Amino acid sequence: MTEIVPLAEPHFAGLRDALDSVAREQRYLAFTQAPPWEECLVFYRDIVTHDRSHFVALVDGAVVGWCDVLPSHGQARAHVGTLGIGLVTAARHRGLGKTLMLAALGKAWAQGLTRIELTVRADNLNAKALYERMGFQAEGLQLRAFRVDGAYHDLITMALLR
Ligand SMILES: CC(C)(COP(=O)(O)OP(=O)(O)OC[C@H]1O[C@@H](n2cnc3c(N)ncnc32)[C@H](O)[C@@H]1OP(=O)(O)O)[C@@H](O)C(=O)NCCC(=O)NCCS
Repeated sequence: MTEIVPLAEPHFAGLRDALDSVAREQRYLAFTQAPPWEECLVFYRDIVTHDRSHFVALVDGAVVGWCDVLPSHGQARAHVGTLGIGLVTAARHRGLGKTLMLAALGKAWAQGLTRIELTVRADNLNAKALYERMGFQAEGLQLRAFRVDGAYHDLITMALLR
């Protein structure tokens, strides 16, 4: 059974494992491994306490992915959220990315955000195509914004306005 549910304490360990697995692919995220458990715990608890837009995808109760829209710093950016998403390899190409995004975007809009932004590696065509299907528009290119094992990668910045 597949479910999309708001992040809650019982998902924390599974979410960190999912993040770690996507991070270790070294092709998509700024992380190349998950942060230490204690750091994740503080971060996840803050999300739950503040009722942030953060959803996990569960397959038979196990976390296989997430999508979040987290707030920006500064009063002038209070209307802006930053979107992050990831699915473990086995959960991709089944429509879960779109479903997760719809849940996270819906809650972000309901909480009053009017701009949602993200960055995506220029060679991450699957993610970029999903963002475009969801209406995100490319705004620019950050040259050499990632460096993994000595290799530089450019990031495309994208945003969705409401
Ligand atoms: C980016 C990512 C979240 C997209 O998730 P996804 O579930 O694969 O994306 P979608 O839901 O849009 O589905 C993509 C594919 O599944 C197909 N699909 C969509 N709904 C489907 C369904 N109900 N049944 C079967 N296939 C479906 C789509 O047609 C699409 O096919 P394509 O890849 O051949 O074009 C996922 O690939 C991922 O986690 N990647 C690694 C981490 C990452 O890149 N994160 C983003 C960093 S910026």
